[in-house]
Amino acid sequence: MRKKSIAIITGASSGFGKEFVRLLAKEHTIDEIWAVARDKKKLQRLSSEYKKRLKTFSVDLSDRQELEHFAALIQDADVTIRYLVNNAGYGKFGSYKNLSIDESVNMIDLNISAVVQMGLVCIPYMKKGSHIINVASQASFQPLPYLNIYSATKAFVRNYSRALHVELREQGITVTAVCPGWMRTAFFDRAEIGAAKSVKKFVGMTTPDKVAARALADARKGKDISVYGVFVRCAHLAAKFLPQRVMMEFWLRQQKIT
Ligand SMILES: NC(=O)c1ccc[n+]([C@@H]2O[C@H](COP(=O)([O-])OP(=O)(O)OC[C@H]3O[C@@H](n4cnc5c(N)ncnc54)[C@H](OP(=O)(O)O)[C@@H]3O)[C@@H](O)[C@H]2O)c1
Repeated sequence: MRKKSIAIITGASSGFGKEFVRLLAKEHTIDEIWAVARDKKKLQRLSSEYKKRLKTFSVDLSDRQELEHFAALIQDADVTIRYLVNNAGYGKFGSYKNLSIDESVNMIDLNISAVVQMGLVCIPYMKKGSHIINVASQASFQPLPYLNIYSATKAFVRNYSRALHVELREQGITVTAVCPGWMRTAFFDRAEIGAAKSVKKFVGMTTPDKVAARALADARKGKDISVYGVFVRCAHLAAKFLPQRVMMEFWLRQQKIT
């Protein structure tokens, strides 16, 4: 009997993740979407929208034990994973001084450790033609003062994903690091912490639907990186040629942080 084909999307209840749900729900090769986030009410609303094709899982992916419990559900399900979208993540705008040690480390737990753990758990259930889509950011192109941990976590995701893409080539599994610029989502509700020295200018703001469509198209083409929009492309190119010290100065001036 054919195994069920599923897509797992983390951070599926909002913003960028919700767009991946919308797009993958149209794929006839996917029998079921597994949507992961913490807030049960938001997940219930999503579930009523997509009915039987969607299963929801309330998991705090920054909590190692909860993640291990979810991993056991994947292992017991005996499914083929066609897509893993590691999208859950967040950043905080401000100085290192504005965040507690717990808050700082939690960003690393979710943006890095959960991405690695989810990938390692899912790969054995993937086959030729399966895709891992890891959400990095334009912030991965350079170090960003006043968004320092966030940009460093996204640099990890970008580098890790590209190297894993090469390692998984012989299995026909692709890994794509998606590097969006600013997108209009609830990201900002969590990021704004009222810090005096903070990120305030959001140049090149776009909507998540366009970026998600490009990311899926790039993954299907087997690209290891997905960059959407002129502004993000320019930043990507600049970061290849300019010293990081210069890129950081540009950033501080653009943000009017002195
Ligand atoms: N928006 C931007 O400008 C932008 C730019 C570049 C990259 N990104 C990246 O895009 C991704 C999605 O962000 P978004 O813009 O769509 O923000 P968002 O609207 O705030 O969505 C974040 C999603 O992640 C889930 N989530 C947060 N913490 C979680 C945890 N500990 N465990 C499980 N799920 C968790 C949230 O649901 P719950 O709160 O219910 O858990 C929500 O579904 C992130 O990785 C972000 O870094 C965003």
